[in-house]
Amino acid sequence: MAQAKILIADDDTLVREAVNKILSMFGHTVVACASGEEAIEALTADFDLIILDINMPGMDGFETLKLINERNYGIPVIFLTGAGSMEYAVKAINLGAYDFIPKPIEDLDIFNIKIKRAIEKRMYVLQERAYKENLETEVRSKTKELAKKNRLLEEYNENLEVSTLNTMLTLQTALEEKDMYTAGHTTRVTLHAMSIGKALRLGEEELTVLDRACKVHDIGKLVVDVNYIRKPGPLSDEEWLLMKKHPEIGANIIKPLAFMQDELFIVRHHHERMDGKGYPDGLGGDELTC
Ligand SMILES: [Fe+2]
Repeated sequence: MAQAKILIADDDTLVREAVNKILSMFGHTVVACASGEEAIEALTADFDLIILDINMPGMDGFETLKLINERNYGIPVIFLTGAGSMEYAVKAINLGAYDFIPKPIEDLDIFNIKIKRAIEKRMYVLQERAYKENLETEVRSKTKELAKKNRLLEEYNENLEVSTLNTMLTLQTALEEKDMYTAGHTTRVTLHAMSIGKALRLGEEELTVLDRACKVHDIGKLVVDVNYIRKPGPLSDEEWLLMKKHPEIGANIIKPLAFMQDELFIVRHHHERMDGKGYPDGLGGDELTC
C-alpha cells in the first residue's frame, strides 16, 4: 500500500490511539487530533486521507466535514461510525464523505481495504488535478504564443500592404513627373476625392479605401505607351482606344493583391460617367455604387 499522510479526529483516546497504531504500522504518517476544531487547525492540502469521528464535543464530524469541503483540497474523508448508527453513515456519504468504517474496528482486512481504496482515490484526484493544471497552463501558453504570432503576422501584412502601395505610388508619380501636364495628377485627384468623401461623411474604412484607390487609380498607364500621354494635341482614335484601356489594365495589376479587392472597383471604373458614356464598361447611375 502506498504510504500516505493521514489526519484523524476522534475524541475517544482509545479509538484514536488504536487507529493511529494500525495506520503507523502500515507505514503511514498520522496526525491525530482530539476534536474537529483541532483537525481543521491541522488540515493542510498535503494530507491524503481524513478519518473523522461523528460524535465529538464541540464541532461534530458533520460540521468538520463541511469546513473540510470548503477548503476544496479533494482529500477523501472516511467516517468512524458507532454500531447501530447507519443513518449517520448515510448522512455522511450524502454530505460528501468517501466511505465509513464501523467502530470498534473488528475486521482489520476490511479496514485496510477501505484505507487503501481511499488513498488510491486521493492519488487519482491529485493526478487529475495535475493533468488539468498542466493542460490549462499549456492552453494558456499556446494561446499567448498564437496571439503573438498573429500580431507579428498582422504587422507584417500591414507593412507589406503599405510598402506595395508606396511602390506603386512611386512608380506612378515618377511616370507623371516626366510630363508637365500630368505632374501631381494623382496627388490632386486624391486630395479632391478625399474632400468629397469627407463631405459625403464616408466612414473611416471607406475613406481609407478611397485614398488607396486614388493613389493607384492610374497605375494602368504604366503599361500604356507613355508617348501617347505626353503627346501634344488630341489623340488619334487608335491612341484613344489604347489610352482607354488603362483603367482595366490598372484593375488587372491590383487584382492579385488580396488586400486591395475593395479598391479594384474604383480603379476599374474611375473613367465611367453617371450618364453611362464613360469607359471601360459604360456603367452609369446606381451601377457605379460599390
Ligand atoms: Fe485615369
